Amino acid sequence: MSQKSPILKSAVKSLPFNWYFKENHFKKELKKIWSNEWIYACHENNIKKPLSYVTLQIAQFNIIILREKGGQIRSYINTCNHRGSTLCKETEGTLKTALITCPYHQWSYNSTDGELVKTSSFITPNNFDKSKFSLKKVKFKIWNGLIFINLSKNQAKWNLKSRFQDYDSIISQIEFEKFEVGHRWEKNINCNWKIFWENYSECLHCPNIHPELSDLVPIYSRRLMDIKEDPNWEEKIGNDDPKFSGGLRKGSQTWSLNGSAQGKIIKELKNKKNFQGHIYITNWPSMFLAIFVDHVRVVRVLPIDHENTQVSAEWLFEKSTYNDKKYDKKNVIDFAIKVMLQDGEACELNQKGIYNPGIRAGVLMPEEYEVKRFQDWIRKKIH
Ligand code: FES
Ligand SMILES: [Fe+2]
Repeated sequence: MSQKSPILKSAVKSLPFNWYFKENHFKKELKKIWSNEWIYACHENNIKKPLSYVTLQIAQFNIIILREKGGQIRSYINTCNHRGSTLCKETEGTLKTALITCPYHQWSYNSTDGELVKTSSFITPNNFDKSKFSLKKVKFKIWNGLIFINLSKNQAKWNLKSRFQDYDSIISQIEFEKFEVGHRWEKNINCNWKIFWENYSECLHCPNIHPELSDLVPIYSRRLMDIKEDPNWEEKIGNDDPKFSGGLRKGSQTWSLNGSAQGKIIKELKNKKNFQGHIYITNWPSMFLAIFVDHVRVVRVLPIDHENTQVSAEWLFEKSTYNDKKYDKKNVIDFAIKVMLQDGEACELNQKGIYNPGIRAGVLMPEEYEVKRFQDWIRKKIH
């Protein structure tokens, strides 16, 4: 076997099945992973206008991310300091004024700094210090137009290269911040969030779960994500059949229903060497970027609870593509939704099976080296 092949040399025991459904284990992950890591919220163009906001639910945490009247982003815990009501009820919206007003007893907070402006009581008791009741701020980082939040109590460092597990300098070159959000989609999947990532990390399931995608990306029909997963890949160097060389089927340019990019190419990709039609860049635990010749898809993963996960996607387009009436966005959007729904079903199938008593863990086969990398990351984080 080639030294360079990433595949596992032996079968490896998988994570215990009860890590996918035990509430106590999930609580541990919430504390050690979700409350510590940078979590993707959205592209900042979702809250373009002053006073527009989105809310984010990460298990029991609910977070407001808004653009204040001066145009700056702010983030707060979505809880009123009076008796704890939710402040912003919707997942997205626009504040009517520069105040965040609690829908319960109408305490109001300044959206620019989170300070409590007024209560609804007749009298302000002497021992009530308004300044102690400001909204709790949430740390955030805007990188290239993408907003990440961090719930950690400690200082949270941002390191671009280690943040993205498969860092590729292309993500710093493409100006995502100038892209428009052409579409948003979300779906709740009945599975533990780790099942989503494990499914994302292998292609053993591709030919039977994704027939259309395996037709578009012929190497997937061989259950491989990368040419080097074939132990004899070196013998196939020079074979330009995409089944062996990777990339999209001949004549196709992007992930879409008909493979056509409709003449659009993201400018930074024009000179990208060895670009095979897609680049996937992972950012555990909450997002991945899928870069295609004419658009970028950002997929976000958030746990709802121990056995439910919300998956959402944003399709980003260069302004000129976004504004081109002749460019049919549905071509790429519908295709990706089809694939994501197929994955969602596979994840639910996986989740349903793991409760059976007596079977304690699975096993990882050679091609599941990325699943192993993810599981090793989990093990490391929770200890
Ligand atoms: S809980 Fe918000 S004003 Fe009472
Ligand atoms: Fe898949």
